[in-house]
Amino acid sequence: MIGTDVNIAIDNLNIGNLVAIPTETVYGLAANGLNETAVLNIFRAKERPFFDPLILHVNSIEKINNLVTEFDERLKKLADAFWPGPLTLLLPKKDIVPDVVTSGLKQVAVRIPNHKLTLNLLEQLNFPLAAPSANPFGYISPTSAIHVEKQLGKKVSYILDGGNCEIGLESSIVGVEDNQICVYRLGGLSVEQIKNVVGNVILKINTSSNPKSPGQLKSHYAPNKPLYIGDLLALEQQNITKKIICICFGNQPKFITDVKVLNLSNTFNINEAAKNLFKFLREADELDGEIIITHLLPNTGLGNAINDRLKRAGA
Ligand code: TXA
Ligand code: MG
Repeated sequence: MIGTDVNIAIDNLNIGNLVAIPTETVYGLAANGLNETAVLNIFRAKERPFFDPLILHVNSIEKINNLVTEFDERLKKLADAFWPGPLTLLLPKKDIVPDVVTSGLKQVAVRIPNHKLTLNLLEQLNFPLAAPSANPFGYISPTSAIHVEKQLGKKVSYILDGGNCEIGLESSIVGVEDNQICVYRLGGLSVEQIKNVVGNVILKINTSSNPKSPGQLKSHYAPNKPLYIGDLLALEQQNITKKIICICFGNQPKFITDVKVLNLSNTFNINEAAKNLFKFLREADELDGEIIITHLLPNTGLGNAINDRLKRAGA
């Protein structure tokens, strides 16, 4: 069931049920993060491997202090600057956090999301919400309640509808390793924004598999149709016999055959492109066509994170 009633969400979460929640990044598949059985049900619903840990969501730093043993000063500066917002921090966990949440790792991922409905919900709960993106494992993250309904509708008790996600890319994941600030996932907060607060950072965005952030497996965020990245006109030529769907940014290419075009932003606005990206990848999957062609965006601001998702989708 889809609706906007926070009380229905609370009632379900209190008895260990799964509820999809809106955030500014993507929709989450949430359950009581301190209840092992409830957390196990998240993994089952998503068909997600247990080695891929979950983020805990709360509405205040006080609540985070109940979950972690230490809070690095530099990470605290990031928290002060960007929470509520698209930032996830890796912090040493207290015993109260079940091992199933962290896949046995000593650190737990935490974040305060920036969405009015969900902040209202979190404020009324006395436990954190474990919530991965509300998509089947490996598929594109959902940026609307309908996206969740289509794929996981039967597996969740309630979908809290908070409209379209404002940012449209998952949170950026940041932690400390060997006393240096590391970025493990590019996301809704740009690397420039992070550097502005903590100075230099190390990018640990592995393209194969990353033990620190297993969700960063190379093939991820992937549509069902093959997706090719490169020069659009050349890609059209190479696939002239196929029905093509094109996802572009800025200027619309002039194809010689009939190609369905989805433009991420015809005003070259990177934030608009981020907001449209997952929606368009889903649309491209549903449209009549055999392959998707696209190109990389400028590597500024959220362009980095968009290109990261495109490369994984194309893998
Ligand atoms: O924007 C977001 O972060 C969304 C919304 C719902 O908050 N959530 C999200 O969750 O994208 P998920 O599970 O799809 O991606 C979380 C990533 C995974 O790659 C996971 O491996 C990593 O965070 N992660 C979680 N806990 C971790 C930990 N303790 N250590 C290292 N990586 C962790
Ligand atoms: Mg995910």
